[in-house]
Amino acid sequence: MSADRPLDGLVAVVTGANSGIGFGIAAALGDAGARVAVWSRRDKRNQSACERLRAAGVDAEPMRCDVADEAQVEEAMAATLAHFGRVDVMIANAGIGTSARFIDLSLDDWNRVIGTDLTGVFLCFRAAAREMCRANSGGALVAVASLAALQAQPDMAHYAAAKAGLLGLVRSVAAELAPVRIRCNALTPGFTDTDGLSFDAASDQLRLETLSAIPAGRWATSAELGAAACFLADPRLTVHTGDSLVVDGGNVALPGYLAVRESLRRQAPGV
Ligand code: NAI
Repeated sequence: MSADRPLDGLVAVVTGANSGIGFGIAAALGDAGARVAVWSRRDKRNQSACERLRAAGVDAEPMRCDVADEAQVEEAMAATLAHFGRVDVMIANAGIGTSARFIDLSLDDWNRVIGTDLTGVFLCFRAAAREMCRANSGGALVAVASLAALQAQPDMAHYAAAKAGLLGLVRSVAAELAPVRIRCNALTPGFTDTDGLSFDAASDQLRLETLSAIPAGRWATSAELGAAACFLADPRLTVHTGDSLVVDGGNVALPGYLAVRESLRRQAPGV
């Protein structure tokens, strides 16, 4: 292992890796030396993500998987092991969010979001951890959470519940699997530039509305989330587990009423 390729020889699964934060994570892990299994639902998009990764020198392989479906997760893990022979890192990134007032939130919407964002992570973690235990190899499990796990998210109570659930899952899995050298952490992004936020064309307005609450004055990039994922996957950090790494430009550190004051201060002449 060299200092600039700390993941050399390791195999990483990244779910939802054909776009957004997942793609940024897959690219960063690959750049750090990992071979990468791209798990997501759409074959064409998986294939084109792998072509982009390979063009950057990453050994990447597409695997179709709906993370909310237990059988598909088991099949994707079997395909990953057949192709790469091992699994060292599981980045459970795939996630969806829908918006509805709480009193209008349907059980279908609730189940869909919990199914992908919470149950999907459970299924992927369990499949990877079983193999890591069988191989006695240790490893790293990372759940991509959200500031919605730490702050209120009006109109997205189901999303906030799923993401907060991840933090409980991470802590308990970390405690249970530490003796077998499997680490488990959450990566908790704030606003990050991805299709996931711009598909509804509200992102420019959303960006303006959120900037006053972000001391860094900008949203994060997928590449920055990738760098954070490399840190969490790094086998040199074998004592780091049960944690949530917040990457948000200082958003959560700044309480709302102070964000308003800071925003007014920044707009004052001479500042
Ligand atoms: P995105 O929409 O660009 O990417 C989501 C990926 O997950 C896509 O590849 C999609 O195909 C895949 N996916 C969705 N459901 C799936 C399923 N059932 N099985 C397999 N793959 C599935 O979104 P983005 O923004 O990159 O989000 C990635 C993660 O980061 C999500 O968990 C999201 O909740 C979280 N996040 C994003 C933030 C942001 O500002 N973009 C902020 C905080 C958290």
